[in-house]
Amino acid sequence: MDIQNKRIVITGATSGIGQQLMLLLSRYEGTKIIAVGRQMRHIPIAMNIIPFKAELSEEKDIDALFDFAEKEMGGIDIFISNAGTFYFNTHEKAQWNDFENIFKTNVFASIYATKKMLELHKKSANEFLVAITVSGLAKLPLPGNPVYMGTKSALDGFIQGVRFEFPPQGRLLGIYPIGVKRSHPVGEGAKNGKRTTFLHYLLQTPPREVARTIIRGIERNKKNIYPTPLAHAAVYLLNTFPFISNWYSRATTKQLSTTAG
Ligand SMILES: NC(=O)c1ccc[n+]([C@@H]2O[C@H](COP(=O)([O-])OP(=O)(O)OC[C@H]3O[C@@H](n4cnc5c(N)ncnc54)[C@H](OP(=O)(O)O)[C@@H]3O)[C@@H](O)[C@H]2O)c1
Repeated sequence: MDIQNKRIVITGATSGIGQQLMLLLSRYEGTKIIAVGRQMRHIPIAMNIIPFKAELSEEKDIDALFDFAEKEMGGIDIFISNAGTFYFNTHEKAQWNDFENIFKTNVFASIYATKKMLELHKKSANEFLVAITVSGLAKLPLPGNPVYMGTKSALDGFIQGVRFEFPPQGRLLGIYPIGVKRSHPVGEGAKNGKRTTFLHYLLQTPPREVARTIIRGIERNKKNIYPTPLAHAAVYLLNTFPFISNWYSRATTKQLSTTAG
């Protein structure tokens, strides 16, 4: 897909992968970008970047985002559903509110935005793209993330199924990163003083590199992108030699049971 002159929405644009996607895509000639998040001070002032504050776990905020995009840009050609929240803890520590919040943000928001993009393009022959940031953890079970992994596996299944409902001019892209450097400690788990795992520290790709790979994938009309090669080599290794992942999983679960409060 040619990115020039495209009207783009990026969720999770205030940090990490989404922020880098916003910065890189804004350099293409003629692009207009609506950058979505909650902490708007992280969105730069630029001619072609329009900030939009939204709580993506709320249906009404996603409706408002689509109305805003129609008013500001006359439509959306590329919707990158990238916002996500992380929960790192053993399952026994997670409460109903944790499940509800993470599923609404990570799963419902992407599913609903995809539905809205399909509705928006029902009567148009213009090319469009929906890109969804899933996670390599949808493909490799590891301890410490059961609820988060549940959200990403749900998204993975959704992508495989909804692909068949896309019209010929519509593209759907699944993005499967693992171990991307974060500028802050990971999500809700970190707030409670939990640490992330050894594997996360070992395999860290800068978000700018991940964003570059995603953009190359968009330009080449890929259906899936695995933008963190080192981490994916580790996934391959762990799936091929299960005794390594068994050892790693037992050690991490033990670490979590002793450190989690
Ligand atoms: N980092 C990794 O290793 C990794 C690995 C696999 C998959 N992923 C996925 O990749 C995506 C981006 O990850 P990242 O590491 O770049 O994350 P990040 O730096 O933590 O940024 C998350 C973004 O999502 C937004 N967000 C979270 N909850 C939101 C909500 N309820 N409403 C609106 N915005 C919300 C945040 O906005 P505000 O801060 O403004 O609220 C922020 O811009 C996520 O879907 C994540 O699950 C990341």
